[in-house]
Amino acid sequence: MKKEKQPARRPSAKAPKGVSRRGFFQAMGLAGAAATTLAQGGCGSSGGGVDPALQQGVGPDAIDVALKVNGRDVKVKVEPRVTLLDALRDHLKLGSTEPVDLTGSKRVCDRGSCGACTMIVDGRTVYSCTVLAVEAQGRQIRTVEGLSEGGKLHPVQEEFVACDGLMCGFCTPGFVMSAVSCLERTPGATADQIRKCLDGNICRCGTQPRALEAVVKAGARMKGRR
Ligand code: FES
Ligand code: FES
Repeated sequence: MKKEKQPARRPSAKAPKGVSRRGFFQAMGLAGAAATTLAQGGCGSSGGGVDPALQQGVGPDAIDVALKVNGRDVKVKVEPRVTLLDALRDHLKLGSTEPVDLTGSKRVCDRGSCGACTMIVDGRTVYSCTVLAVEAQGRQIRTVEGLSEGGKLHPVQEEFVACDGLMCGFCTPGFVMSAVSCLERTPGATADQIRKCLDGNICRCGTQPRALEAVVKAGARMKGRR
């Protein structure tokens, strides 16, 4: 389709005049998800939109937010303006009824332009710095911490290590989550397809070639070709 051939655009971080912070973030979150989905070759989406309950208005004081992260139910008390990224990184450990340390997703630009904060929500990659925590209620949230099983790293993580696909490592969790989503959606994805999947992730250290190599190898492994 015509729209799928256009390059993924990153949303501007500046809220237009007259637009509330909440409305702006909602638009940014959806745009970020759409951009990443676009980068993944127009894969299908699951849901989206704004919870009608949120239209009623909540806050500005902190409210209880129930999240399902890596298959685990957690509750955190945050103001409605807090992003999903900040809720998990900064509030979960202290404010949760069940303290969990989820700082794997990185806050780098905090404005939907670098991909370091990428998580998978209801099967779609999102920039979690552009999604409000309250919006993520009732959704299946996956972070980089949820990829390993029984202490064994996910094949994508193993290949990042084997291919030396990182330097400072700040971008790496985001790359890994985009890659996992890509290979789950498109088993046997070609290098070109994978490159498009990783379009929304930026590495300032210049490790993109090795990151791509790692994901191609992981894809082959996951398809049982290696
Ligand atoms: S896109 Fe979220 S921290 Fe850069
Ligand atoms: S490894 Fe440093 S930003 Fe990517």
